[in-house]
Amino acid sequence: MTEPKKLFIKTYGCQMNVYDSERMAETMGAQGYVQTDTAEGADLILLNTCHIRERAAEKVYHELGRMRGLKAENPNLKIGITGCVAQAEGAEILARAPMVDLVVGPQAYHRLPELEARARSGEKAIDTDFPEEDKFEHLAERPKAKRGPAAFLTVQEGCDKFCAFCVVPYTRGAEVSRPAERVLKEARDLVERGVRDITLLGQNVNAYHGVGFDGDWGLARLLRELAKVDGLERLRYTTSHPRDMDDDLIAAHGDLDKLMPYLHLPVQSGSDRILKRMNRGHTAEDYLRLIERLRDARPDLLLSSDFIAAFPEETEAEFEETLDLIRTVNFGMAYTFKYSSRPGTPAAERPDVADEIGDDRLRRLQILCTSQQRAAQENMVGKEVGVLFEKPGRQPGQFVGKSDHLHAVHVTAEGIAPGDLRRVRVTASGTNSLAADLL
Ligand code: SAH
Ligand code: SF4
Ligand code: F3S
Repeated sequence: MTEPKKLFIKTYGCQMNVYDSERMAETMGAQGYVQTDTAEGADLILLNTCHIRERAAEKVYHELGRMRGLKAENPNLKIGITGCVAQAEGAEILARAPMVDLVVGPQAYHRLPELEARARSGEKAIDTDFPEEDKFEHLAERPKAKRGPAAFLTVQEGCDKFCAFCVVPYTRGAEVSRPAERVLKEARDLVERGVRDITLLGQNVNAYHGVGFDGDWGLARLLRELAKVDGLERLRYTTSHPRDMDDDLIAAHGDLDKLMPYLHLPVQSGSDRILKRMNRGHTAEDYLRLIERLRDARPDLLLSSDFIAAFPEETEAEFEETLDLIRTVNFGMAYTFKYSSRPGTPAAERPDVADEIGDDRLRRLQILCTSQQRAAQENMVGKEVGVLFEKPGRQPGQFVGKSDHLHAVHVTAEGIAPGDLRRVRVTASGTNSLAADLL
């Protein structure tokens, strides 16, 4: 018997890439590949890349540099670049890194087996099309093998918002929603394989509008139907845009016990002028009002957001408005970024804020957000929450999982297994996790 070919995938960027990597592994699995967790000895390496900030995109070339010796060791090795750098740079990648054999954009993953075969025959295989056919329907069926208790499920892809700083509308293309029946089927299949917690994914997930069995469904309707799936205990969705939070979706946060009290709702800035320059389509006040309505529907909702420091022409006073908004909302979690100019986006044409000022603003954002995150964790101490256990922890007898509010929680106790959903009482808050006792 010949040995199976080995596939190594390294994933960068957002959860959508994590989901895509899984699906690519499954698709190549049907071609006889088994996944390995080291690049050494692999027959196919895929770097599933992110183009969101300059530093993210540059990581790919660093990684390729480190892999330079591998082809000499294994003449069968083929190297592929997938994801958003593949889409954005296409053939330029081959010019800059001749060791690359295939370049595949996010909308062409279902063609990966064919492209891999072309690469094996010595061609440089590139596919950065936005094809007519639906890639999801052509990706290999998910195998029936058991898997971990938490999973991502992509329901929507692409973005029509064109925020002035962002490459996603160019790398992922226009907004497309998957039909609701397909999503429900994939969810049921995941549950059969042991999944109890599903996070619905989309670059603009709350803009979801898929064909349901009685007309078009929004995200709220999809969540309501998913909540009826037996054995599926927890639902989340990410990432949302404030403009697409409709009444029904806000109400769903109050109505659906399975919809977890955590929402990532990026606002980027607290300054109306900057929000306008960013093309976000709402004001700071609109956002604050939205948060109030969400908290009315679900008082224990933990909110998280993304912020960009030093967007072109941002003044000190405008930056302080962002800090004010953060103080007003009180976020449980936040992702902070220094603005990074991206080729081809409208903001790239505008004058940048000086680098040192950007660094200083980022640092101040981080200090504030970290203190709110700590406080939100401290606030959990003494409370009862649900935890879905995923795997053994580092200490003997320890198990780790995620709370309803998405905090990492560790418990030391007998008789916990992966996939158990248990009530716990939080006893202490550490740097990035909570300690708890089983109830
Ligand atoms: N679709 C999501 C997020 C996409 S990218 C949304 O609409 O919010 C994730 C985050 O990266 C963004 O929310 C933004 O904060 C950050 N980001 C995107 N482009 C950036 C850029 N050019 N420079 C710095 N941060 C950026
Ligand atoms: Fe990028 Fe804006 Fe679309 Fe989010 S909504 S993916 S930030 S363009
Ligand atoms: Fe990055 Fe593409 Fe996701 S640019 S953040 S991998 S959509």
